[in-house]
Amino acid sequence: MIEKDIERVFFSEEELQKRICQLGEQITADYEDKNPLIVGVLKGSFVFMADLTRRINTYCEVDFMAVSSYGNGTSTTGAVSIRKDLSYDVEGRHVIIIEDILDSGVTLSYLKSYIENRRPASIKICTLLDKPARRRANITPDYVGFICPDAFIVGYGLDYAERYRNLPYIGVLKPEIYA
Ligand code: IMP
Ligand code: MG
Repeated sequence: MIEKDIERVFFSEEELQKRICQLGEQITADYEDKNPLIVGVLKGSFVFMADLTRRINTYCEVDFMAVSSYGNGTSTTGAVSIRKDLSYDVEGRHVIIIEDILDSGVTLSYLKSYIENRRPASIKICTLLDKPARRRANITPDYVGFICPDAFIVGYGLDYAERYRNLPYIGVLKPEIYA
């Protein structure tokens, strides 16, 4: 029972689903007839991606990239490396990058310029959570689910040392878990 490790719930299942529904409607309106390529950044975005894409009611395609920028700790190392590349040619495509959380922005600014070099028709960023207080890279998301407090959070795809991704909501761990 992993709930016992959670000190406080930040975003409940209901809040998440309600907001994701709105994001899906917005993306549907913005991308009608554009057949966007929706690129999930693994692993953190997998839960959000699954829920969001089911709220997008227009033709679209999905792909995934995997990058690593974090170790098992709670802050970025600054270095980004690509572990899984796109499986489609994105030239001329409308790309939407899906992230779980935009923190320092190092990961996404690297990914964005990486994809920009492949000449997509457009590129936008959709992040479930934004922690603007910690931004280091010059990057602004186009779609944001929630602005979130400067705390290390887990659940709904977000991990601490690879655990807690399967929590259906987002919360903060009890301090003794990090000890
Ligand atoms: P950035 O490059 O610092 O923006 O890092 C973004 C990535 O760091 C996200 O995709 C997450 O995997 C991870 N991350 C940032 N903040 C948190 C957090 O509070 N909990 C869990 N993972 C986080
Ligand atoms: Mg992570």
